[in-house]
Amino acid sequence: MADVTQPRPRRRYWAEPYKIKVVEPLKITTRTEREQAIAQAGYNTFLLRSNDVYIDLLTDSGTSAMSDYQWAGMMLGDEAYAGSKNFYNLEAAVQKYYGYRYVLPTHQGRGAEHILSKMLIKPGDYIPGNMYFTTTRLHQELAGGTFVDVIIDEAHDATSLHPFKGNVDLQKLTDLIQQVGAERIPYISIAGTVNMAGGQPIAMANLRAVREITQKHGIRVILDATRAVENAYFIQQREAGYQNKPIASILREFCSYTDGCTMSGKKDALVNIGGWLALNDFDFYEEARNIVVIYEGLHTYGGMAGRDMEAMARGIEESVQDDHIRARVGQVEYLGQKLLNWNIPIVVPIGGHAVYLDAKRFLPHIPQEQFPAQRLAAELYVEAGIRAMERGIVSAGRDKHTGKNYYPELELVRLTIPRRVYTQAHMDLTAETVEEVYYNRDRLGGLKMVYEPKYLRFFQARFELL
Ligand code: F0G
Repeated sequence: MADVTQPRPRRRYWAEPYKIKVVEPLKITTRTEREQAIAQAGYNTFLLRSNDVYIDLLTDSGTSAMSDYQWAGMMLGDEAYAGSKNFYNLEAAVQKYYGYRYVLPTHQGRGAEHILSKMLIKPGDYIPGNMYFTTTRLHQELAGGTFVDVIIDEAHDATSLHPFKGNVDLQKLTDLIQQVGAERIPYISIAGTVNMAGGQPIAMANLRAVREITQKHGIRVILDATRAVENAYFIQQREAGYQNKPIASILREFCSYTDGCTMSGKKDALVNIGGWLALNDFDFYEEARNIVVIYEGLHTYGGMAGRDMEAMARGIEESVQDDHIRARVGQVEYLGQKLLNWNIPIVVPIGGHAVYLDAKRFLPHIPQEQFPAQRLAAELYVEAGIRAMERGIVSAGRDKHTGKNYYPELELVRLTIPRRVYTQAHMDLTAETVEEVYYNRDRLGGLKMVYEPKYLRFFQARFELL
């Protein structure tokens, strides 16, 4: 019997703080249909038709379910070319919850990365970062810069239990400044959480230390805020002194150590499209405001409809609610923990937006040049219509100078959980599917690449079975 004289413990379960009002039926396909579909797609899950997919864990980007409050906001779209009222709502939400002074909407995250890179990077510059992200690095390179990975070594080890695998290795950063000189480093690019490391967070203390080092040298800190709310949740759960702070205040503090951010609103901010570039420095804002009109649109819409800006403003507010973020990350942990209980090799600790299967340990008999993660993703589709994404050698691409393939330490398949979309039963079915494929893993062979696009090859590359 519970002792009712004692204070009640904090609710342990992460159950969803919402109920379902609208549903979208899913098509159930046969194994033969799926075998045909994946062959037609060149064994690339990006080339499948969504209609042929049962549980879509390709990405958490633009795949969230909006709330009734957001949908109501869609009807309040002010589609004026200039000065839409929805822009001012969006600006106010970013200022309030992220704390930056100036806000420019963009069509999505890479639109902001494009403008930022064009504005701040000169040919020959170096941009350190806590691991690369595909589009972020490419925009840095297209502007003439070279990305330098300064993340801690633990981030490249799928089995390391470090609680903040997104941390910057301060020695690597200091060495780089020494080697190339601060004047060749326009900014350091900080992602929270780190997608390619498995959705791993960076600690507040580490970001503060990065701020101290870079400030001494006049180097700016630019945040990739795409999943910064999820990062704030991990700080609340894992970092001393933050247990009793609300997510919103942790996020504000986190952003306060940076000079601006690029943002893909398609993740944390709970919308299907949109993003922004935020800056604190007026001169840079002015320059960015000049550039945004060339590539995105006027500075008060930047490629977004008024209604989409309204949905994003409302999504930002919902995203920083403690109950929301707890359930969001809680669902990811639920799936990951199930796989761990069955001894299936995944990246640990479990990330914020996805569970990453470790294809190197899952399929140790397939060498990396035969694309084990790509093969595993294709097999999950064949097994049960589950769509995942390769995050390994295909995603890593080629060195821009030598043209040689990168061979990343991490060869992963990402099971990415859209926000507020799937149920616990969907997670159970996903776990059982992974287990089934794991049981039969010896039967799987590798792939060969038969078509390779020039940029971001993972999106459109085609493969055949070996
Ligand atoms: N930064 C990070 C950390 C991202 O994960 C993404 C997109 C972007 C920037 C670019 O934003 O797509 O709005 O242009 N990630 C998606 C994903 C594509 O599936 O992880 P975008």
